[in-house]
Amino acid sequence: MEIWHVRETKRLEGACFVQGSKNASLPILAACIIRPVRVELKNVPQLRDVDAALRILRHLGCLAEQRGNEVYIDSTGLTRSTIPHALMEEMRSSVIFMGALIARCGEAQLSLPGGCQLGKRPIDLHLSALRQMGAQIEEDRGEICCGSARLRGCRIALPFPSVGATENAMLAACAAEGETVIEGAAREPEILALQDFLCAMGASVSGAGSNTICISGMEKREALSWRIVPDRIVAATIACAAAATGGDVELRGIDPQQFSTVLYFLNQSGCDIIHGKRSVRLLSSGRLRAVGEVMTAPFPGFPTDAQPVLMAAMLKARGETRIIETIFENRYRQAPELCRLGADITVNGRVAEIWGVERLHGAALTATDLRGGAAMIIAGLCAEGETLVCDEGHITRGYEGLDRRLRALGADIFLEY
Ligand code: EPZ
Repeated sequence: MEIWHVRETKRLEGACFVQGSKNASLPILAACIIRPVRVELKNVPQLRDVDAALRILRHLGCLAEQRGNEVYIDSTGLTRSTIPHALMEEMRSSVIFMGALIARCGEAQLSLPGGCQLGKRPIDLHLSALRQMGAQIEEDRGEICCGSARLRGCRIALPFPSVGATENAMLAACAAEGETVIEGAAREPEILALQDFLCAMGASVSGAGSNTICISGMEKREALSWRIVPDRIVAATIACAAAATGGDVELRGIDPQQFSTVLYFLNQSGCDIIHGKRSVRLLSSGRLRAVGEVMTAPFPGFPTDAQPVLMAAMLKARGETRIIETIFENRYRQAPELCRLGADITVNGRVAEIWGVERLHGAALTATDLRGGAAMIIAGLCAEGETLVCDEGHITRGYEGLDRRLRALGADIFLEY
């Protein structure tokens, strides 16, 4: 159990380098097995989910180790195509190993993945995409068995731009004969990051960032070195913390375009946003204005992952903020916890209404999921007295040294293990 001790902080101030992206790292770690290769990855965050991916790689027979923010993988010795349930259930992204294993071994045996509880998280789109490429897949009580003598390129039309299904299809398609075209693909920056990595591995991939991605095979590469892009959701989290505390914070090493919808709403709430090429400075002068209606949507829309942290920033804003969550059916689990601090939030299905209050007071909370936990920390920074966020390890799945980074900006926070 981790306990975050958070006290009211009047102003976050200073500059902060944003960690490498969790959601870019995880599919890239899986991609390392689609061919025998030695890979050096830089700027990989030290996180529970990254650790889980490395344990899967080791189980499969790869060398995989992390030193600081560098990860070394040698997938030449891969010997297995089975991932046991104990490793699969640690995170949602374990499912991306399915496409990667089929590409490398022509088979994969695994079980349904774990991950944050955000409502139903089926994998039907992943399975359908792989089946269209010729994989035979059987499911029995949560166990999945995939085999394919030969994958063939085809047109895959995704009915919803699922990030994970797009990634799985991209990985498998690298080993398919002929061209694969994914229509209705996810457009998230992490998809572009995966495309760039696959190209560096020798694959022919184009179109990421648009809704049509083309993959047409792969040439041999023996080794490569690659740098993971910065984490746009961590950037959004720190920006929301700065906005909520009346802060002046510069986020460095990040492309502001990648979380421009979050910056847009923070600007609407009264913050000044000063864009640099690879940085953004946010100045907040005190009590924010509510931002009206915010609807989550696939990229380039407002990211569902930033919804809980924006909610936290709006708890003391003047007026009403209305959030409509369209991606996950149950992503307001932080709301009842935030109400324990004195917040005024009403949740009705996919809609949450937040009426800004004058004051919040510290209380003991329980983190419900990764971004919900981060929201509680932001709220704690705005609450009188001390807030305790008790966490079974959700926050450290995705945030590296969040206590240290916030403390460097002046936050009164420490993490007790
Ligand atoms: C990725 O999850 C991210 N995870 C999530 O980040 C993020 O919230 C999500 O994309 C949406 O942006 C990683 O990249 C590791 P999806 P993923 O498939 O791939 C439904 C965080 O906080 N769906 O785009 O699982 C699904 O139920 C996290 O860092 C199907 O119905 O997301 C959901 O409602 C949590 N069938 C919606 O699509 C499928 O086969 C979006 O899911 C697949 C998805």
